[in-house]
Order: sequence, then structure tokens, then C-alpha cells
Amino acid sequence: MSLNVGIDKMSLYLPKHYIEMDILAQYRGIDPNKWKIGIGQDQMAVPGLGTDVVAMAANAARTILEGEEVSRIDQIIVGTESGVDYSKSIATYLHSLTGIPATARAYEIKQACYGATAGLLLACDYVRIRPDRKVLVIATDIAKYGLNTGGEVTQGAGALALLVSVNPKIMTLEETSYRYTKDIHDFWRPNHSEYAYVDGHYSTQMYQEAFLHTIKQAPKEKLDEVEALVFHLPFTKMGKKALEYYLAEGGPEDKIGEWLAHYPSSTGLNRRVGNIYTGSLYLSLLSFLLESQSLQAGQTIGLFSYGSGAVSELFFGRLVEGYQDHLNKNQVDSLLANRQALTPQEYESKFTESLSLVEGTSQVVQAEDTGIYFKGLVNYQRQYGLKES
Ligand code: CAA
Repeated sequence: MSLNVGIDKMSLYLPKHYIEMDILAQYRGIDPNKWKIGIGQDQMAVPGLGTDVVAMAANAARTILEGEEVSRIDQIIVGTESGVDYSKSIATYLHSLTGIPATARAYEIKQACYGATAGLLLACDYVRIRPDRKVLVIATDIAKYGLNTGGEVTQGAGALALLVSVNPKIMTLEETSYRYTKDIHDFWRPNHSEYAYVDGHYSTQMYQEAFLHTIKQAPKEKLDEVEALVFHLPFTKMGKKALEYYLAEGGPEDKIGEWLAHYPSSTGLNRRVGNIYTGSLYLSLLSFLLESQSLQAGQTIGLFSYGSGAVSELFFGRLVEGYQDHLNKNQVDSLLANRQALTPQEYESKFTESLSLVEGTSQVVQAEDTGIYFKGLVNYQRQYGLKES
């Protein structure tokens, strides 16, 4: 008999600053309704230089590791497409920043926004054959298309940590999944470039087709069992577009109607944070688990992961009794409550500052918030500090 393995804990970390999308739209001369209604974004997280992908990942991990027996953690897997080094993984920094024992493996997985899903599913397979062990999976990213670009509205930043164990407290994950991979250039970031290249409309079309290819592999009995679907959300309209496309292509009307009714509850945090690439699917899952008033333990949720380039996977989780008590709700509320809004000019200067990383022998970067922060470079080695509250 298969063991119950899945998500035991979840923890989010967000940058201290954000911008209101209607204010930025007006500043750009765009109708705010296009961004708020047409795309579905209300706010966007804006990281400064001190809030890099390593610092965000470490801060998300630290919360999850409070009270945890770290000697049982065998691996740290980081999913990211905003890597800071071609060679050294973000996961290795996390060893020292979070106190994970030297006996744990550490590595990074890259496949656009799909990387953390690969990590999560590998982690589950690992724990299924070593049920006394745990794996820490972290998604951390800064989505950057550039100022005044078509993709600007779909930027964002944040990290989400997941602890995988046997008999998890939030959600067991099933071994069954449906996959679809196609070698395309819908979104990519060549090594020379700070920004992503994207064929925006083609990417949304490829996302919808990938969803169709995965869901069509699932038997009717499986889909009947699924109470709701959560999606990788580069912007919050995207999952809805995929469901509507499935309907137009002959998908089951009644079931899709039920999934669409649940859909708004799975977008709340994503509307306020923006695209966090590898973490966006899990941010949507967290939104859904926190916001839905109708979900019950024992129900099955489908998760659709899409990483441009492109790899996609539809997999399933079952909610565990008492899951609501393990979502770190207070932490999410306080992260949102403590954020500070930026003016468009402040946002532009923070955005530009993040491109100006220079070699330094002393501290070059100030902490924006309490917790772990990026201090600067010494001999091109990244340095981190801890700002106590
Ligand atoms: N009021 C209300 N709605 C309005 C409006 C207004 N005044 N003006 C326009 N709209 C609606 C449009 O009708 C459209 O709705 P539908 O999509 O339902 O037809 C919507 O707003 C967007 O309008 P456009 O298509 O004209 O917007 P755009 O040309 O600026 O492009 C985008 C939008 C393609 C998402 C672009 O922001 C982009 O390239 N983003 C980055 C790429 C991306 O996120 N791709 C997603 C799939 S790839 C992926 O998932 C991986 C990843 O994370 C990147």
C-alpha cells in the first residue's frame, strides 16, 4: 500500500515593498481596467537589492524550520529561474543560512516556472521510499521583464517553502500525474540577459494547449473526483483562460462550471504579489486554502504546473483533516500588513538599483526588512547578513 506523503508545512516570504497597479497603469498611460480586470493584477511586489532570491528563500525556509527537527531533512531543493550563479546553487547558501545539517543534499532545478514542481514531486518519491526522512523544497524568483514593457504588469517577487514528509499535515500528493513537454520559445532568458524574452500571446496560447494536453490524459472518473483546480498563475486571468479553452474544446461543462466557481478564491495572493514564477502555483494553492470557505478535508485538488519552454504537469493532492491550522496564516497576514507602497518613481528607482550590483569590499547594501538580507559582493562572493527585529 502506498504511503501518505505530501506537503507538511508551507511558508511564504514577500519583499517589503509593492506598487498599486492602477497607479502604475495611469503613470504608463494605460487604462487601469486593462491591468486590474483584463489581466487581473491589483498590486505587484517590488524587491530592492537586499531582497535577492537567496535572501527570500532563506527567510521562507527559516519560518518553516522553526521547531523542526532539522536532522531529519535529507535534501534542500530550490526551484528557480532567477539563479544568481551559473555554478553554485542557491540551496548551498541555505545550508549555512538556515542551519541544515551537512549530511543533506543541496541543489537547484531549472525549468522555468516548473522547476519547483519537479522538486516537489522528486521529494515525494524520495520520502515514499525513506518515510522517516524529510525534504525541503523552495521556490524563489524575481520576475523581471523591464520597465515600460508588455510584460511589466506580470512581474513580481517572492519565495515559498514547502516541507515534504510522510503523513503530512496539509495535503497528501498522489503518484498519478499527467505530463506534456514541447520544445518551444514562448518565454526564455538567454545567459547574457537580465530580462526575460517573451512572445506574450504565443505563451498564453501554449499554456492553454499544454493544459488541454495534460487534462485530456486524465480519465473521467479522476476528473469527477476533483473538487477544484489550482494553476500556475503568471497573471490571475491565466487559469480562467485555460478552463474556458478546455470548455471550448469540448471539456465537461458541469465540472468546468464547478471549477470556475472555485477559481476566484485561488487568486487572492497572486493578485497582490504578481508573478513569482516557480512559486506562483503554490501561492495560488496557499490563497485557495486560506480563502475558500467551502473546502473540506478529504477533497481532491488538481494542480496544474506550467514552465515555459515548455514543460507542464497536472497532479493531484488530497486535503488532510485540520489542514487550516498549518498554513502559517498569521505570517501571511503580517507580511501583507507590513508592506509599504511605492510611488511609480520609487518603483523605477528600486528596479534600476537592482541592476547596479557592483563589486565591493565592505557592506554595500542596506537591509530593507528584518531577517536575512543580501549585503553585497566580496571577490564576487555573495555575502548575507541578519537584521534582527
Ligand atoms: N478593460 C478591461 N479589459 C481590457 C481592457 C480594458 N480597458 N483592455 C484590454 N483588456 C483585456 C483584453 O481584452 C485581454 O483580455 P483577454 O486575454 O481575455 O482577451 C486582456 O485585457 C489583455 O489584453 P492584451 O492581450 O491586449 O494585453 P497585452 O498585449 O498587453 O499582453 C500579456 C498581455 C501577453 C499577458 C503580456 O503582459 C505578457 O507578455 N506577459 C508576460 C508573458 C506571460 O505572462 N505569459 C503567460 C503564459 S507563459 C507562463 O505562464 C510562464 C510564465 O510565468 C512567464
